[in-house]
Amino acid sequence: MDSKSVMDQVWPLRTDWADGELRLGGLGVGDLASTFGTPLYVLDEDDFRRRCAAWTDAFPEADVHYGGKAFLAPALVGWLRELGLSLDVCSGGELAVAQRGGMPPGRVVFHGNNKSVAEIRRAVEWGVGCLVLDSFEELARVAGAARRLGVRQSVMVRVKPGVDADTHASWATGGERTKFGLSLASGEAAEAVRRVLAEPALELVGLHSHIGSQIFDLDSFATAAERMVAFLREVEREHGVAVGRLDLGGGLGVPYLMGERPAPSPADLARVLRAAVPQDVRIALEPGRSIVAPTTVALYEVGTVKGRYVSVDGGMSDNPRPATYGAAYTAVLASRASDAPLADFTVVGKHCETGDILVDGVDLPGDIRPGDLLAIPCSGAYQRSAASNYNHVPRPPVVSVRAGHARVLVRRETEEDLLRLYT
Ligand code: LLP
Repeated sequence: MDSKSVMDQVWPLRTDWADGELRLGGLGVGDLASTFGTPLYVLDEDDFRRRCAAWTDAFPEADVHYGGKAFLAPALVGWLRELGLSLDVCSGGELAVAQRGGMPPGRVVFHGNNKSVAEIRRAVEWGVGCLVLDSFEELARVAGAARRLGVRQSVMVRVKPGVDADTHASWATGGERTKFGLSLASGEAAEAVRRVLAEPALELVGLHSHIGSQIFDLDSFATAAERMVAFLREVEREHGVAVGRLDLGGGLGVPYLMGERPAPSPADLARVLRAAVPQDVRIALEPGRSIVAPTTVALYEVGTVKGRYVSVDGGMSDNPRPATYGAAYTAVLASRASDAPLADFTVVGKHCETGDILVDGVDLPGDIRPGDLLAIPCSGAYQRSAASNYNHVPRPPVVSVRAGHARVLVRRETEEDLLRLYT
């Protein structure tokens, strides 16, 4: 295998190979697997930090909120805090992790199209930096909570800019038909701004749009930014206020396969946004996938090899993306060298359905056998965070590695954890 070109795209920064064994953060995958078991998610902390820095370097004047839905753990919140990033959360659970990780509330932005009254109250009470209003009902609920608590709550209005980005239909959120936000074209967004400005318990600190996820085409970001700037200027003219901030969401894509076209970098996006957004408007961003996806490798042990099916000890419960979206991944033999000719295999999980496929067609050494470790790169985003207990399979741990040391970020779930739910 040409490990050099492999490492360019989809593998974390501290990846190397020794005698055919994959090493992550200075640790061999054999040792990692015997210490922590498999399936195992291994996150390269240096790579995570480097990717955060790429965003803050590209946007020194902007607020960079990490999109916590991609993957979140208290330890990771601590790194974000240290690195000067803020945090985007979209549920009470994510808010709880932000609190446990010690993120100052002022650096938290709270999203969601149907935040509960309890979630709103908790967020306002804690003092979150900003709530992103997604509906008229929510606007009234947040105002009510702020009044009851005797505070003035900072808010943004989430706007549908009418941009259909080129991505999977489930992840496109900028068009008119999405459930998120208030329409620019119909005047809903302008009406929401009017109501916020008329409400003394709310303070409008910006406008928000998020056009979707796994987007490679920078023109979509440019179009959304231009429309949002035009709207912001309209608001300023109509109401004689300075809005000051545009949050343009997350969504920058990453390659999942070797040889796939490279993704634009945060610096590329910065060039595009700087051309579209005037200097008096502060930009905020919410990258999730582009920071965390490539930092993490999923490790599985092969259990059976039946014809072209290689079965591993995880599957659609720890990585629902192939079954849900048809997402494509690659896999490599990670625990030993092999000179056997390559053959085409399908890597499948241990769950009770034919669609439980992790990698649909990949070249692996023909002598692949039980006990081998398979590594699937680019496994950091929307996998462990979206994992389920389908078939009562406990969810795998996430371990960070750095300079030869490993640290458990999320421990392995146990059957006892699962049984605790039953009466
Ligand atoms: N901000 C908002 C308001 C979002 O809804 C999202 C993602 C982000 C930021 C972060 O976007 P990113 O930079 O990660 O693209 N489960 C799907 C992806 C869903 C994305 C949800 N929203 C997947 O497995 O690909």
